[in-house]
Amino acid sequence: MRLRENQNSLSDSVAKAAGSVLIAVVILILVLILVKFVTRSKDKGRRKAGKPLLESQEVTAWSGLYRFSKYEIQNAMNYNTSTSEKTSLGRGSAGQVYKGVLPSGQVVAIKHIHQGHTSDSFHREVEGLSRIRHPNLVCLFGCCINGPDRYLVYEFCSAGNLAQHLLRKESVLTWERRVKILRGCALGLRYLHHYIDGCIVHRDIKLTNILLTEELEPKLSDFGLAKMIGMEESKVFTEVRGTIGYMDPEYMSNAKLTCGSDIYSFGIVILQLLSGQKVIELDLDARDQITRKVAKDVSLGKRPLLDFEDPRLHGDLNTEDFEAILQIAVLCVAKSSKGRPTIDVVLEVLEKAWKNTVAHKKTRPEVSSPGASSYSHSIDVIPT
Ligand SMILES: Nc1ncnc2c1ncn2[C@@H]1O[C@H](COP(=O)(O)OP(=O)(O)OP(=O)(O)O)[C@@H](O)[C@H]1O
Ligand SMILES: [Mg+2]
Repeated sequence: MRLRENQNSLSDSVAKAAGSVLIAVVILILVLILVKFVTRSKDKGRRKAGKPLLESQEVTAWSGLYRFSKYEIQNAMNYNTSTSEKTSLGRGSAGQVYKGVLPSGQVVAIKHIHQGHTSDSFHREVEGLSRIRHPNLVCLFGCCINGPDRYLVYEFCSAGNLAQHLLRKESVLTWERRVKILRGCALGLRYLHHYIDGCIVHRDIKLTNILLTEELEPKLSDFGLAKMIGMEESKVFTEVRGTIGYMDPEYMSNAKLTCGSDIYSFGIVILQLLSGQKVIELDLDARDQITRKVAKDVSLGKRPLLDFEDPRLHGDLNTEDFEAILQIAVLCVAKSSKGRPTIDVVLEVLEKAWKNTVAHKKTRPEVSSPGASSYSHSIDVIPT
């Protein structure tokens, strides 16, 4: 009897304990769901209010990026104590860029992002650029978030952007420099397209986003639009953004972004460097006509490719390399991304041209008449 009573009370307590555990688990699950819901609606609220999702802890967690204080940014921009004026390096759609000097003496470029500009590109630039490092990509040193103000601090490229050099009246970019610049850009682009996690599409390759160091080493800049295409994908569908005149027509018409979209833009850059023309200023139809006509005439062997040459070079170039580069550029701007070469193929042509240029330089070390943009001039001379 007593044994049965004991057994009954034991099973009662087990049932009670199991019941309590069950209730505790249910409560825990409910609490977790509630926490998740509250966090999500907070994020949504912040997004709706246009507030950035980017908080200081997130920036620090991402990378080794230095987080500047507003005070440090102001000090860097007001490096010239003799005047209260800041030195502007230029203005783009995202904001104004100023020259700055850090306490270490390091010269930097500081981009002050417009308050109205999407935090999206700031986010992407910080997230993307902080992880990638290559001699032909502009290095991001740090950023600053101060209330609604956003700043990006980059390495300083003292020779400005490529458009300023190519289209400048007072001096001509020599053939050697053009080849060197194109090769450097292709090296930077190859690094992006063969990134460890997939292909990083820059999406905004153009003359003003190719910055130059004192030695005229090119560096691709502005990663605010960059997009990653994973290993297992060949394309992504995304909102169409970029710069008219450089944008892949396939991407423009169906929002299908591929690595070939950068190849198209780079093709346009190459055509500009060969011809000295502001392709961007030509209307799209006219530009298409030029490239299509060149492509057709090249394939039929009808027309000397040098018809396309920048007259300011006065023929001071390597004809064979010019033809090879023009042919590859024409393929780069093919309407369908399937017809375009990969960056490796483009680089191969540019490497060959660069080797020829260096070899030519070695065999003809003498300096020709002053003022001429001679093929035999030093390849590393900085233009005035
Ligand atoms: N790291 C840098 N070093 C030197 N100059 C720079 C640097 N970054 C930008 N600049 C200068 O500031 C200018 C404005 O740059 P920004 O990237 O904001 O706009 P953009 O590329 O000219 O135009 P868009 O906004 O249409 O892309 C550049 O054209 C360049 O001359
Ligand atoms: Mg730019």
